[in-house]
Amino acid sequence: MGCRALMIVCLLWLQYAYANVEKVIFVAPAAEPLPTDASIDNLLLTPLSEQFPIARTHINASFPDKESPKGTETWLLLEGLHPKRRYEVRICWMATQPTSFWLYTHTIDHAFSKPGLLTSLSTYAYSRHERLGSEDIQQLQLRKTKPGPGEPESTFLFLQVYAAADYFTLNQTLMENVPPVAVDIILDPYLLNVFPRSLLPTGLYLLLIACGAWFISGQVARLFTIQNIAENDAEKKSK
Ligand SMILES: *[C@@H]1O[C@H](CO)[C@@H](O)[C@H](O)[C@H]1NC(C)=O
Ligand SMILES: *[C@@H]1O[C@H](CO)[C@@H](O)[C@H](O)[C@H]1NC(C)=O
Repeated sequence: MGCRALMIVCLLWLQYAYANVEKVIFVAPAAEPLPTDASIDNLLLTPLSEQFPIARTHINASFPDKESPKGTETWLLLEGLHPKRRYEVRICWMATQPTSFWLYTHTIDHAFSKPGLLTSLSTYAYSRHERLGSEDIQQLQLRKTKPGPGEPESTFLFLQVYAAADYFTLNQTLMENVPPVAVDIILDPYLLNVFPRSLLPTGLYLLLIACGAWFISGQVARLFTIQNIAENDAEKKSK
């Protein structure tokens, strides 16, 4: 019975390993409220927060070359983070779109003090301004967290995502134009800084199965013993 529980754990692990997931684990920095002058809002980055932890979107990818060895960059905003809490950000994509992802988090100071990062961020923000319609921008504003009065202090980080196409095909169209990759990007706070919150149901499920298996195996063992004793008794009587 314990063996079955172990098997299920292994199966879950296999599933986890085969799903296409890349992640970054980080500890949120000290409290730093969003600047009030809306300069960060003006970047039109997709925000992720504990309130809105999932973004389902398409990310541009490209084949790596000398200038961009990790493909195309995308920037997002991780906001409303609790200072010093551990988080992970996962990006999940389908096996039918082979892609390599790299995830990095940057504090505002770091991003603004490194010329390379600043250029990349502002280029991305410009392209967002050109591309997004007023409806898209409204959608973004709906995802904004609004800290109420008396809420604990919060902080934020930039998330930089690189996406490089990772396939070869004889189809010339696909080799010249990499289609955008459908992804889920998920912000996951850790419970007590050790366990990702979204894995809690799986953890509880496994615990239940393990306990159940232990309990049932005890019952079965007892049943067998009782049966054996009964059979022995019956044999003795028939002698
Ligand atoms: C992806 O790249 C195409 C072509 O360069 C551009 O038109 C489009 O706006 C980009 N999309 C995103 C989500 O960046
Ligand atoms: C190449 O791929 C594109 C996009 O998936 C598809 O529309 C097209 O039909 C393919 N061309 C060939 C020759 O298979």
